[in-house]
Amino acid sequence: MQTERVSEKPLRVGVVGLGYAGEMHLKSFSRLPNVEPVALAGLEAGKLRELGGRYGVPNLYASWEELVARADLDVVSVGAPNHLHAPIAISALEGGKHVLCEKPLARTGAEAEQIVEAARKANRVVHIAFTQRERGDVQVLKRNILEGNLGRVYHVKATWMRRNGIPGMGSWFTDKEMAGGGPLIDLGVHMIDMALYLMDEPEVESVSCATYAELGPRGRGSRGGDDDENKTVVGDAYEVEDLATAFIRLSGGATLNLEAGWAAYRESSDDFGVTLYGTDGGAEMRVRNYGTQDTVRIYTDVVGVPAVVAPEITPREGHLSVARRFVETIRKGEYQGHDGEDGLRRARVIDACYTSALENREVSLSGDWEAV
Ligand SMILES: NC(=O)c1ccc[n+]([C@@H]2O[C@H](COP(=O)([O-])OP(=O)(O)OC[C@H]3O[C@@H](n4cnc5c(N)ncnc54)[C@H](O)[C@@H]3O)[C@@H](O)[C@H]2O)c1
Repeated sequence: MQTERVSEKPLRVGVVGLGYAGEMHLKSFSRLPNVEPVALAGLEAGKLRELGGRYGVPNLYASWEELVARADLDVVSVGAPNHLHAPIAISALEGGKHVLCEKPLARTGAEAEQIVEAARKANRVVHIAFTQRERGDVQVLKRNILEGNLGRVYHVKATWMRRNGIPGMGSWFTDKEMAGGGPLIDLGVHMIDMALYLMDEPEVESVSCATYAELGPRGRGSRGGDDDENKTVVGDAYEVEDLATAFIRLSGGATLNLEAGWAAYRESSDDFGVTLYGTDGGAEMRVRNYGTQDTVRIYTDVVGVPAVVAPEITPREGHLSVARRFVETIRKGEYQGHDGEDGLRRARVIDACYTSALENREVSLSGDWEAV
């Protein structure tokens, strides 16, 4: 991390959201030098007081509008449901604040585009909490690719699958209007991000996607426990997919196979990973139940003989790494290229996937299509 200058003014942060995401934002900003979480907003009064007390946040609000209206904030950090990302981010940017936004940047490409435009107009930073790419094992894969150990990566499989992992049955997560979609937009966005990041941002040329809603609508596949109890019920219909699969063509002839599911009859675990096939080597990352050790294998030839490398991984905290880079970017003062463009690209891919699934056809991103 850069050395801090003592004369630097503390960065004043307001966090919206009291769930897992909001708390991770609070916790991460609290740990960074010269950064002060000074405001917090959320609907659950008890949790608001509890988190405010724990992290020493002096100003507590029941709505995001009151928080964003504060003129003394440098940063608004968005850990709210997906339908609020665009309104909160745009309002904060118009008020001259920098924005750290949870993934997905927005429910649709059109909404994400409005955020990016607002960031450019205001000359402020928008970063997205793509926390999984910050993992120690993903960083080891990235370094292997950068150093040429895999050669040219031409095919990737990226998957995130759960047995019973619907995150709040009847909550905003399963409401199409509020969430924008199911596991594709929730988990798939992390895996699309990871794959494109590892492959150095190839263009997405076309997608062929299918979605399924087989368990959720029958009340199956719920994670249960805290998730269902702590989340406000907004409806009783399960309106989104519970599994999505896509075949994605990338520039340069490379391809990506994507699978994202909250619920399916499979092992009782919560697993994600990527498989990379390159011209000089391959790699596999398998993360079981968010484990951090022994997750990567690199496949190569040593003296003409197949060899397997099992790198030792140093775990990293995703939200802390994201928050640290965000703060460094603000302090450097060079905001160009930090306008949320990567979140917009992922949102367009997801739009194309949902269109492809609905229309039962391949969608070319440069072609003539309208997001559904
Ligand atoms: N990067 C990650 O690892 C990660 C992990 C979990 C969730 N997320 C993302 O974070 C976001 C939130 O997810 P979550 O699981 O924390 O959800 P959650 O439902 O647990 O929490 C959402 C919070 O938003 C608050 N909220 C809703 N409407 C509000 C309003 N009008 N004003 C102020 N606050 C309001 C709620 O009170 C609640 O505290 C989602 O976009 C999700 O995709 C990211």
